[in-house]
Amino acid sequence: SLSERPPTTPAVPTVAATVIEEAKRLAAWTAVDRHVLPEHKIIGIGSGSTVPYVVERIVAQGSEVNKDRIFIPTGFQSKELIISSKLHLGDVDQYPTIDVTIDGADEVDSDLNCIKGGGACHLREKVLAEAADTWIVVADYRKNSQVLGRNWTHGIPVEVAPFAYAKVLLNLQLLGSPKATLRMGKAKAGPIVTDNGNFVIDAPFPEEQMKDPYTLLARVKMLTGVVEVGLFCHMAKAAYFGNQDGSLTIR
Ligand code: 5RP
Repeated sequence: SLSERPPTTPAVPTVAATVIEEAKRLAAWTAVDRHVLPEHKIIGIGSGSTVPYVVERIVAQGSEVNKDRIFIPTGFQSKELIISSKLHLGDVDQYPTIDVTIDGADEVDSDLNCIKGGGACHLREKVLAEAADTWIVVADYRKNSQVLGRNWTHGIPVEVAPFAYAKVLLNLQLLGSPKATLRMGKAKAGPIVTDNGNFVIDAPFPEEQMKDPYTLLARVKMLTGVVEVGLFCHMAKAAYFGNQDGSLTIR
């Protein structure tokens, strides 16, 4: 059994982990094949563990097409990914109009509304989603949902100005999220800090409110001190989900 292996033996990936990675790859590769076209010159690159497969497929399109393209990152991770893949890096202040942005998601509902911000990148992710003519979501089957909050139970990520976090927490509780909490770093020594120098609150709301994500988004975004909300409503043109059995779901 695995537990009898000597500690120096590298861990064998579980079947589930391999299946999930293959599901992410299938979603990402198919989305690139369909939406990142030779005429696209300004391309947004999202964050998370599915996005490296997006970049992998874009690199495979070849240096001839990629030499004339600029890639815009949604955060530190995707910036490093663009640089290490030897693609040309730009920023959204230089290129406020993007041909296509491809990004991951924490959960996607039946109307293609998404929860994002599991990696605390949702402010930049939303700017790049809005800036794009086409915004495409790629994910594995675990993100495919009917109602937001059923699969991603941590709550809606809310980026807040650090000095205002306690007030925003109180207001989120009054809005219907009594378990809203400040997201802490791994060692719990302090709050995580976003690429923009802000804090993140995770706010779980009851299903009744999650069924109308646009109204909830408007209410949370109105709270003074909130910088951005990890609810992306009416933004995605399509979502690609790799499934456990090797098939693909496109919505
Ligand atoms: C980061 C995000 C990510 O896109 C989201 O967490 C999905 O990540 P993964 O592809 O690892 O599941 O919103 O803020």
